Amino acid sequence: MDQKEELRRLVEDAFRQLGHRKLIVAGNWKMNMTLKEAFAFLDGLSFKQPDREVLLFPPATLLLALSGKMKERRISYGPQNVHHQPGGAYTGEISIPMIEEIGCTAALIGHSERRQYFGETDAEISRKAKALLDKGITPIICIGETLERREADCWKPVLELQIRGGLNRLLPEEIRRVIFAYEPVWAIGTGVTASNEEIAQAHQWILSLLKDSFGVSVPVLYGGSVNEKNAVEIGGIPGVGGFLIGGASLDSGKFSKIIGDCGLAGL
Ligand code: PGA
Repeated sequence: MDQKEELRRLVEDAFRQLGHRKLIVAGNWKMNMTLKEAFAFLDGLSFKQPDREVLLFPPATLLLALSGKMKERRISYGPQNVHHQPGGAYTGEISIPMIEEIGCTAALIGHSERRQYFGETDAEISRKAKALLDKGITPIICIGETLERREADCWKPVLELQIRGGLNRLLPEEIRRVIFAYEPVWAIGTGVTASNEEIAQAHQWILSLLKDSFGVSVPVLYGGSVNEKNAVEIGGIPGVGGFLIGGASLDSGKFSKIIGDCGLAGL
């Protein structure tokens, strides 16, 4: 089996394990959008592709207010971060029972901005992943190397530490229910995307590591300056199971176009 065949098999396995073969299009709004803007966004969003799974990660303050409309539109949703404890004296945090109660089915964890600005560690990320899975909520574990590490050709050890660290507390059957998002830090919000070759190489390497070390195939999303112009091409790269989109997910026209245009060409 050549490398491309092997990769196709890994990706197909990943989708089979999740019970679907949908390309995942996830929007991370970060600390953007007021309630008024968010409603206008949802009104402007237009897509009807049944072979896409659309997810939104709005600020926590908007989740409940938007939940009805998101459900109507078959958009899955969740928070950009959670605390692993079910409750207690953790000022400023939100818990998993809180998000579960309002219908969240996924949560972002370990985003590079959380790691960089809030000192989030792989050990914490693993606790969060475990606690989410205990409640049947899908953790989307974000991983990615800095520009310095990429330039030193050290991206593999960085990703390996993040993957192993993030999965550390999980049982094999739990690891099967995780989604990863590969987001090179140098491509986030910079307008610079990784080249198709870099994306293909990283995704293939991550999928192989997951298969060889943990015996699983799970979707690996790509994130980092994905927009309405490059989504079709990136979505067609073998190994890319979908996108995690920041800036372009704030504009309903651009986000609709990405959902509508991108396909499963890479599978
Ligand atoms: P970007 O952000 O699309 O604005 O680069 C991606 C992310 O941080 O998830």
